[in-house]
Amino acid sequence: MQDIGINRISFSTSRYFIDMAEFALSRNQVKAKYYDGLMQEKMSIPPPCEDTITLAFSAAVNVTDKYDIEKIDLLIFATESGIDESKSCAIYIHKFLNLKSTCKVFDIKQACYAGTAAIFTAYAFVRANPGRQALVVMSDVARYGLHTPGEATQGCGAVAVIISENPSIAVINPKTGIHSEESMDFWRPVGRNEAIVNGAMSAKKYLSFLKRSYEDFQKNNGMELDHICFHTPFCKMALKGHIALYGNRDNFNVNSIAYNRLIGNCYTASLYISLISLLSNTKEDLSRRIIGLYSYGSGSVSEFFSVRMQAGYMDFLNIDLFKKNIEDRIHISIKEYENIYDSYCLDDIKNLDYLTSGELRFLGVSDDMRVYEKYKR
Ligand code: HMG
Repeated sequence: MQDIGINRISFSTSRYFIDMAEFALSRNQVKAKYYDGLMQEKMSIPPPCEDTITLAFSAAVNVTDKYDIEKIDLLIFATESGIDESKSCAIYIHKFLNLKSTCKVFDIKQACYAGTAAIFTAYAFVRANPGRQALVVMSDVARYGLHTPGEATQGCGAVAVIISENPSIAVINPKTGIHSEESMDFWRPVGRNEAIVNGAMSAKKYLSFLKRSYEDFQKNNGMELDHICFHTPFCKMALKGHIALYGNRDNFNVNSIAYNRLIGNCYTASLYISLISLLSNTKEDLSRRIIGLYSYGSGSVSEFFSVRMQAGYMDFLNIDLFKKNIEDRIHISIKEYENIYDSYCLDDIKNLDYLTSGELRFLGVSDDMRVYEKYKR
């Protein structure tokens, strides 16, 4: 069977962040609750000119730079914070990347699981169409109400992945483990900009679905894993996942949450930011190592799967760019964050010079149409 998997991968996040120590002070909490209790240190905050589309575009530009985009015959966009009830987010990326008109384009939704659903849809497409490739983008702005417990677990970011035969980075194992069952742990009714969540129930579901999908994965594979990356709504949840599987925190690989700890939740992209974190920050050569991945999407669907790292995978990771994405961000105060929070989804965006974005920015709404422009810093 032909090897199919990740040929390129990259991520983006917004240019602004808040510090969780300052956030704690503003919410009458102690720093340790967030730094240790949730294991979160910083949180990316999207300015009003940044949204799911602009974040996705920055990640997609990174993977398609110097890449032959003529090879891309499928584009799938995974998100749970899309910008239109009808039109796909993917078609904007298709336009701004100048992909060919014979490329198939659509969105996929199932909370944070949608990124993994997109990866396996792309996998099936590449298997059915030898020689063809697919671009998957996962992008989200995680938003809960101000002064709610969920507020500490926001964030934003996107991951772009090219799926192909003979991949340069990792081969995907198609024998996975699944658990699906309806639940009301987290949802966002039509018309609302903030998610509603039952925090305690969501954590329980995350762990019980982990157990069930891991058992199904092992039934199908019976395989030892060298490392595991978890969907990371906040870093302590990944640690709890590790403890649920192994009974203790020994060997929990903190490299797998290095970027998540500084970005926060990115819903569909979070698991793949964890994978990028592991690959970029682990000193050991991971060639031929097997990495398990746990994908969970509230509502709820989970899938546990694995990839085998290719020899030479490091040559295809732009680690300098990954570090720059995090280190070049601008620190903002809690007051500035609250102002930005209130102007989310405003039709008329002000102060664009101050609130800069990535490669593309949202300018506002004209005649009910969202307007974007390419942006050079
Ligand atoms: P909370 O009520 O603010 O916090 O909500 P808490 O009181 O539960 O404390 C959090 C942790 O901090 C606890 O650790 C405390 O002990 C500890 P734990 O006992 O759980 O290990 N703590 C301290 N530690 C050290 N020093 C201190 C201190 N004080 C307390 N002084 C909650 C936390 C996560 C529930 C909330 O932020 C929330 O509702 N977040 C959103 C929901 C969420 O992220 N759920 C995760 C699972 S569901 C999922 O992953 C799917 C999702 O990504 C969406 C999708 O699929 O689309 C969310």
